[in-house]
Amino acid sequence: MKRYHVTTFGCQMNAHDSERIKGMLEELGLGEAASQDEADVLVFNTCTIREKPDQRFAAHIAQARALKERDGKVIAVGGCYAEAQRERLFDLYPFVDVAFGPGSIAHLGEWLGAGGEAPRSSFGIGQERSFAADLAPHRERRFQAWVQVSMGCNSVCSYCIVPKVRGREVSRRPAEIMAEVTRLAGQGVRELTLLGQNVNSWGRDLRPDLETGFAELLRACDAVPGIERIRFTSPHPKDFRPDVIAAMAESESVCEHAHLPVQSGSTRILKAMKRTYSRERYLRLVDELRTGISDLALTTDIIVGFPGETERDFAETLEVVEEVGYDGAFTFVYSPRSGTEAATMPNQVPEEVKRERIERLVDLVQRIAHERNQERVGGVEQVLVEGSSRTDALLQRGRTRRNTTVNFTGSAVPGELVDVQIDGATSLTLRGALRAAVAA
Ligand code: 5AD
Ligand code: SF4
Repeated sequence: MKRYHVTTFGCQMNAHDSERIKGMLEELGLGEAASQDEADVLVFNTCTIREKPDQRFAAHIAQARALKERDGKVIAVGGCYAEAQRERLFDLYPFVDVAFGPGSIAHLGEWLGAGGEAPRSSFGIGQERSFAADLAPHRERRFQAWVQVSMGCNSVCSYCIVPKVRGREVSRRPAEIMAEVTRLAGQGVRELTLLGQNVNSWGRDLRPDLETGFAELLRACDAVPGIERIRFTSPHPKDFRPDVIAAMAESESVCEHAHLPVQSGSTRILKAMKRTYSRERYLRLVDELRTGISDLALTTDIIVGFPGETERDFAETLEVVEEVGYDGAFTFVYSPRSGTEAATMPNQVPEEVKRERIERLVDLVQRIAHERNQERVGGVEQVLVEGSSRTDALLQRGRTRRNTTVNFTGSAVPGELVDVQIDGATSLTLRGALRAAVAA
């Protein structure tokens, strides 16, 4: 039996795409190899959001080339970097056999050929996009699943390459989504994460044919028996409407967590980023969310060193972090992406200034996240068990409804919902002891 290996870069959408790539390769009769070395077909599902993933891919592909020269492996490169570099990919890497964009996973099988005998230089980028919904994904965990609700993005954030590579937003039809959710629940899935580049604008492109929106989708998923936790990522603050806040509050299985990318705390910079909200409007939304949903965890994404960002602008970002008191934040140094508006803006911020700013930001984010986690000590959290702890095999690991990782003592089985008494906290995790199983 031929074997494949998939290396994934980037976001949860890519991780989910990789599950479908694996599912498809298995349908073709290939088995999964434990390492690149042992595989006959090497797939790279790439990301291009910042320069770093580009560089990581370059290192991986150099190694893949050496493996190919040794024993003739088939190399397929998919995902966002492949799409962004579609004009030059085969010039840069002539030893790549198949290239495919994020919307063409459904065709990968045809290009690879049955059994993974790739016709050299097949090419399938920039073609008609589809959801690849018929592909049964190869999921890592029986009790958790991602569900793609849309593809593409209609925003025009001036730093971001995603709309260029993933195209205009297309919402998946609700009947198709609900059929998948019901099937997953039947397979034992308890936690769903709805995925889209901007989940809160889901349904807009289906009108006037279908009058629906993300709030209705949340409620419909909540009504599916067996689904006990619903998460979603990412919403854009500009599209987070009161009906979605109400649906979150009233749907028992929707978790008390919103990932709300702020990007900057300076209205001036937000404007240059084309985020279409001001600092004040963002903070109002945070208030509305916290008023509507009790015990809500908030996390965010922040970029430092956007072109023209002054010390004053950066100080405003620090103020917002302090004022919101995020439970966690992904922090990024601005990385110019060719083809985006911001890449050619004047006043690019020098590297050393960006470095210095991100260090200050990370310190603040960690201090506040630690304080927020400390507030949970002494309480009991419902935890969905995921496996053993990454740092100590004697401990179990899982996540709370608010999406914080908990390491705990006591015996529990992955997939189980348990109550954990919290007795310690770091900026990233909680510690505790098992109290009881909530449900079998
Ligand atoms: N440079 C740095 N960070 C970026 N992001 C998106 N584009 C860039 C860029 N060019 C960040 C944003 C986004 C997250 C997924 O990545 O914060 O929310
Ligand atoms: Fe995900 Fe964006 Fe990276 Fe594509 S470029 S994998 S959408 S983070």
